[in-house]
This record gives sequence, structure tokens and C-alpha cells, in this order.
Amino acid sequence: MKKKTKKPKKVAVLTSGGDAPGMNAAIRSVVRCAIYNDLEVFGVRYGYEGLIDGDFIKMNARSVSNILSKGGTMLKTARSERFMKKSGRGKAYSSLKRYAIDSLVVIGGNGSFKGAHKFSIEHKNIQVIGIPGTIDNDVAGTDYTIGASTAVNTALSAIDKIRDTVSSMERIYVVEVMGRVEPFIAISVGLAGGAEDVLFPSSRYKIEDMYDDIRKGREKGKVSWIVIVSEGVAKASEISDLISKNTGYMARSVVLGYVQRGGSPDAYDRILASRMGAHAIEAVLKGESDKMVGIESHSVRLVTFDHACKRTKDKLNMEKKLYELTKVLAI
Ligand code: F6P
Repeated sequence: MKKKTKKPKKVAVLTSGGDAPGMNAAIRSVVRCAIYNDLEVFGVRYGYEGLIDGDFIKMNARSVSNILSKGGTMLKTARSERFMKKSGRGKAYSSLKRYAIDSLVVIGGNGSFKGAHKFSIEHKNIQVIGIPGTIDNDVAGTDYTIGASTAVNTALSAIDKIRDTVSSMERIYVVEVMGRVEPFIAISVGLAGGAEDVLFPSSRYKIEDMYDDIRKGREKGKVSWIVIVSEGVAKASEISDLISKNTGYMARSVVLGYVQRGGSPDAYDRILASRMGAHAIEAVLKGESDKMVGIESHSVRLVTFDHACKRTKDKLNMEKKLYELTKVLAI
């Protein structure tokens, strides 16, 4: 006889790690889908830090009014050193038990999911479901993470403006974008912004080749030149100094920085966040745990946290292809 599984009664939701546009849309979806399914919902403030300290707030459908279009996260977020330790995770478990909460939805990136995976193994009577939210798009098992599309659009609108001045003054511009060592933003804006080159960790670029390309480009009549550098590779100012010194052409640099993380989420991120939030609650109702919601080929589905935290070959191949196309289109 099949054992009856106890229906989850109380769910908590938190945002963890770097904030990303669309996290609020995901919170709204989790809260409202939970209430729609007669679950009680608690918001946890400051990510895993708040989970350890029991910083919980009871949520109702109105608690998430008018946040769909807002950047950042209404629940606040943090990077938690304490949750990396077993003792911290033990305290987090006690906080959840104090409120009789039996399921937890974590909105964050792969660092947050590594912690969620450990927590799920140590505390099997709490169901844990992840929703990928990070501008870096560096989570396996999902084509997109919440916030990545908006961050690319934000960076792109800055690069389009830079192109106006670069071509008017016939200069070279080196633009540093976010994403740690992950090249998603760099590669995407490189192709979408018509960049002449993109420097990212696996491109194994040789700066000497770039000087040559710039000289040859001038001979072909290319007078404006934009190089995108992913922040994990080098500092934009160092690259522009080297270019000026070695080519004799005027190069300037800019770091786009945290503007890429803020702002109103675009339609894609709002829709993705709403779908993922709904799927996370479905997963809770089905008794799933130790899994993340991902989107692949337009379908929302579950993958294990273990898989989500791995670097996949698919993404590396895609980056390579986009880079090659960027170079072809920049002739
Ligand atoms: O992981 C998201 C991200 O925005 C990266 O792109 C960036 O390198 C990092 O966070 C910055 O972290 P912090 O906000 O802790 O400075």
C-alpha cells in the first residue's frame, strides 16, 4: 500500500546571493500560488541569514502588491557565511521548526543552491525547492536564470550609447561587464551590440592578436572599435592602456558595474519568474525536494540541485558559437 504523504501546510520563501531583476516577480508568484493552493506563506528576510535568525514575516496576497515591475528584492538578500557551516544550517532548521514550516523556496544562484542541497540532505523533513535568480546565467539545467535577460538589455543600452560617441570620435572603447568569470553577459552584449571583440575566460585571447586586428580594421576603414571584457578576465582600464600604448590609437574604458543588476525586469524575466514561482509551488504540493525549477526548450521542469550546480558543456559550446559569430559579423 502506498504510504500517504503529509500535505505541506506552511511554506517559506527567501532570496539569496546577489539580487537580480525579476526576483520580486518570483516572490509574488510563489506567495500568490501558495495562497491559491491554501498554503500558509512566510517571507524570510536577508536570505539564509534571516533563516538562521528566524527573521520571518507572514505574507498575504496583498504583501506582494505592486512589486512585479520593481528591481531588487522586497525580502532583501545577503551572502551568508554562517549557512556554509553545518551549525548555521542546524540553526536555520530550528527556526523553520519553531514556525512549523515544512517547505522552503530558495530564489538564488548556484552558491545558494549548494547550501540548499546540503540543507536538504541534512534535514530531510523540510522540502527545499530552488528558483534560479542571478544576472550571471551560470546555473546548469536551465536555459535562463531570472534577471539575466534584463541585465543584458541594461548593458546593451549603455553599449549602444557608447557606440555613438566611439564612432563620432573614431576611438576604441573597452567596456567591462559583470558576471564574475561567467561570460554570459559579455558574450550576449558582444553579439547584440556588434562588438569587435569579447574577452572572456574560455576565449583564451591573446592581446597581441587584438592589436593586429585593430590595425587591420583601420586599414579596412573600421574607425570605431568596441571590446567587451568580462569582469573575471581583466580590468577594462588595463586593456585600454595596453591598446593605446601598442596601437597608437586612442582607447578609453568604462566599467558598467552594478547598474546591470538593478532596474525594472523586462517582460521575459517577469514571465519566467511567474512561471517558475508557480512551478515551485506545484513541486512543493507534489512532495518534491532537493530540486530546482529550470526552463529548457520553453518547458518549465525540475532538475536536481546537484545537476544545477555543475558547469555543463552545452553552455561552453553555446558561448563559443556566439563568440565565433560575433567575430564573423565584425569583419
Ligand atoms: O553573481 C551576481 C554578481 O552580480 C556578479 O555578476 C558579480 O561579480 C557579483 O555578483 C558581485 O557581488 P557583490 O554584490 O557581492 O559585490
